[in-house]
Amino acid sequence: MVDYLDRIGAGLIIAHPERLDFDFVPEELVGREDIQRELASKFSNVANPEGAARAVITGPVGSGKTVLAKTFCRDLQRHLSGKRELKVAHINCRNASTSMRVAQRILHQFDPGHPDRGLSLGEMLLSLRKMLRRTSTHLIVVLDEVDHMLRRSGDELLYQLLRIDEDQEGTGTISLMLISQEQVLDVLETAVISKFGQSNHLRIPPYTVDGLEAIARQRAELALVPGTWSDATVRLLAERAAGSGDARRVIEYLSSAAERCEFRQDGHTEQVITVEDIHAMSDTVAVDTQTRLEVVDDLSAQGMLVLLAMCRRLRTEESMTMGDVERLYAVVCEEYEQKPKSHTTLWKYAKQIEQEGVISTRVATVPGGRGRTTHLSMPHFLPADIASRLELLLPKRLRRK
Ligand SMILES: Nc1ncnc2c1ncn2[C@@H]1O[C@H](COP(=O)(O)OP(=O)(O)O)[C@@H](O)[C@H]1O
Ligand SMILES: [Mg+2]
Repeated sequence: MVDYLDRIGAGLIIAHPERLDFDFVPEELVGREDIQRELASKFSNVANPEGAARAVITGPVGSGKTVLAKTFCRDLQRHLSGKRELKVAHINCRNASTSMRVAQRILHQFDPGHPDRGLSLGEMLLSLRKMLRRTSTHLIVVLDEVDHMLRRSGDELLYQLLRIDEDQEGTGTISLMLISQEQVLDVLETAVISKFGQSNHLRIPPYTVDGLEAIARQRAELALVPGTWSDATVRLLAERAAGSGDARRVIEYLSSAAERCEFRQDGHTEQVITVEDIHAMSDTVAVDTQTRLEVVDDLSAQGMLVLLAMCRRLRTEESMTMGDVERLYAVVCEEYEQKPKSHTTLWKYAKQIEQEGVISTRVATVPGGRGRTTHLSMPHFLPADIASRLELLLPKRLRRK
């Protein structure tokens, strides 16, 4: 029997697994309207038959550089369809790191059967120019992770591409877009940027927690079965990934939680991603949770009681309010035969626990608009782990007082 494979492709939680891939290009980007508009402004020229554009996009890993370029080129092709014949060659220079290889790929993207053996760089580009002119096609060359090529082969190919129309027989044959991580830019690349024009340089910031939440929500809507996740699910995932600002990470978290949930379905389970599904990956993602757990050791006995109250709820819920904390804290105090501290003191402990990085807080308006309330969550720890450590430490800590 191979029933252990039953869950593969069952689709109880994940309806479209391919949409959880990093390479999947969504129909729309979320939360990058300003940057899309800025990029479009650099390409305003391309609508006319002799126009070409240049742009350099830099930003940290997972800030959406690649997907920005891909969706932009796709949308531009659609926008200009019938007006100007437009082709796109998006080359990742990490996989093709020499100028020769990159040139071959550009040529092949345009004409897959083109013989390139024995051709020099110059000859390949001549051949490319001839094809483009013959078919009245404008080509957008996107050199992604261009630093790899610059490091291996220098900027020869860039200048040849920029000079492609120097024969004066045509103009606006090629637009060029360079993409690189900001941190790996060194003097060489800075010189390249200045050749492209400072004003054509777009700097993309890392994502905020809200940006990551929007991306996780979009992927969940696209890939998962409706009803298997909630707003709280995507929020907690975003909070986990917040420190990195990396969209890839939040998608990875979403996909790993959904997979775990899919694999534990047995016909009786509720088809919903739980807090445990979200935290289960800490084994692989957070390297040494064991040592990190020690952050709670220095809390006072009262602080521990407050944190234990939080863990009790966050074991099963993505987030809780201060009101919830207060109620559960009263229960925990009773259990440990302690007199509960005042409301204000409770807040002080909560703040302290937040400063230790154990919980995250967020102020949100109450649905219906009646005031604001503080939500707490525990994105970086498994609440059950913290709880058992506290239960171990608390009796001793209370005796010591
Ligand atoms: N604004 C966005 N809207 C939707 N998906 C996004 C957005 N930004 C990034 N992504 C997704 O996040 C992942 C990482 O983005 P990517 O473009 O590969 O980042 P980078 O190239 O900057 O490292 C990709 O799967 C991409 O589709
Ligand atoms: Mg990229």
